[in-house]
Amino acid sequence: MAPELFCGPDYWEQAHESATALRERGSAQRVTLPSGVSAWVISDYADARAALADKRLSKDGAGLRRVLGEQLVKLGKDPEQSRMFGDSMLMMDDPRHAELRSLVSPLFTPGRIQLLRPRIERLVAEMLEELPRREPVDVIEHVAFPLPLIVICELLGIPLDERDPMREWTAALMEDDPDRVLPASHAMQDRFDKLIVAKREAPDDGLLSALVQLCDSGDISGDELMDMVFLLFVAGHEASTNLVGNGMRHLLADPARWRLLGQRPALIPRAVEEMLRYDCPIRMAPYRRTTEPVRYGDVVIPAGEIVLVSLLSAGRDPAQYPQPDELDVYRDAKHLSFGQGIHYCLGAPLARLEAEIVFTALTRAFPRARLAIDESQLRHKPSVIMHGLVRLPVLLGGRTSPWDALTGGLRRLIRWPARRRAGTGRQSPFARSSPT
Ligand code: HEM
Repeated sequence: MAPELFCGPDYWEQAHESATALRERGSAQRVTLPSGVSAWVISDYADARAALADKRLSKDGAGLRRVLGEQLVKLGKDPEQSRMFGDSMLMMDDPRHAELRSLVSPLFTPGRIQLLRPRIERLVAEMLEELPRREPVDVIEHVAFPLPLIVICELLGIPLDERDPMREWTAALMEDDPDRVLPASHAMQDRFDKLIVAKREAPDDGLLSALVQLCDSGDISGDELMDMVFLLFVAGHEASTNLVGNGMRHLLADPARWRLLGQRPALIPRAVEEMLRYDCPIRMAPYRRTTEPVRYGDVVIPAGEIVLVSLLSAGRDPAQYPQPDELDVYRDAKHLSFGQGIHYCLGAPLARLEAEIVFTALTRAFPRARLAIDESQLRHKPSVIMHGLVRLPVLLGGRTSPWDALTGGLRRLIRWPARRRAGTGRQSPFARSSPT
């Protein structure tokens, strides 16, 4: 059978249909990516779980760059790779992977991340207070995107302002089009280069300064420093944005369920896990390379091939989940959406905390929220790796009670003159993500 082609304007809107069709053809299938590169996709839950932790599937960046480069040359394309294929822990095998991960993992334990709760709650409260109630508001633009971006930038010590092009660069990096990916990768590297120089001259207590010191003391190389910053920055917000966007879209599909979560916030952590399973923010766990022939299902994938693991498909595998196409907030959904094995998501506690806080606040504040456009008008980002909406226009409706509405209105009124004086009107909360 001809390899499945991963492209076309409708492809990104039929993510689950395509993932299911691929899974039904067998666990491992050959596909052609939009760049023309050939790869294999592993789709069913059991094999996906095994593949994510399979040591014969190497994540070594140098090996991947070589295989990808050879394919691109054959296609007559520029073999240069984006920095995302650099030497970060995500693109590395043990033992160096473990060494790099151990440098930052103490900062991302559930306990350490819980210390961020008050700050994230405050950020979310401020964002929600600014949102218009009676006109459509793009929840991605105003909440799902800025929140994780501000949080990861504060952790790293990266200053941002509203006009920062980081968002466009990250979006471009996730696409499979070298003409978009490479300029974005270069621009971002340039930006991080300047930041590294600045942190070297004037260190602060952010993670980036700590990493610069590790580089200066010889614990990590200059390339590893750059690739670590790239990884933490991109991984730290792109998937979390998708989780909030995809999750809200699906929760709003059932107004009773949305209201239930507002009344019973204790259900929200479980609902977040179910959202991660039901519509995984990451379509494919990024690139691996076979170091020897490996069998998955009936298929032997030869050595030297690129392998992707379909998290979207694994989350809907009927062999693993009863009624996989139903979003059930009571389900005890063990999923693979944060990966498995040594590359298990470092930021999982942070992503969970952000989502829990956002959904608790949104369901409580806006029990009458609903989509402002028809579902069929929603569009996904054109990315092989990421799975998230471009925009999510929502009508939030009034606050929970007249008292809330009154106090919310008074609070806005009191703050308004101050904002006018500061030259900021009601804009994206991104405007307030000033240097930390
Ligand atoms: C809903 C949000 C998120 C999802 C679904 C997600 C998912 C994943 C997945 C599937 C992997 C493994 C990829 C593979 O095996 O190829 C991974 C790795 C990683 N994630 Fe996340 N992630 C999320 C948020 C975050 C956040 C907020 C951070 C913050 C720093 C982060 C940092 C990382 C890092 C550093 C790795 C590489 C770990 C390693 O190689 O040892 N992620 N993530």
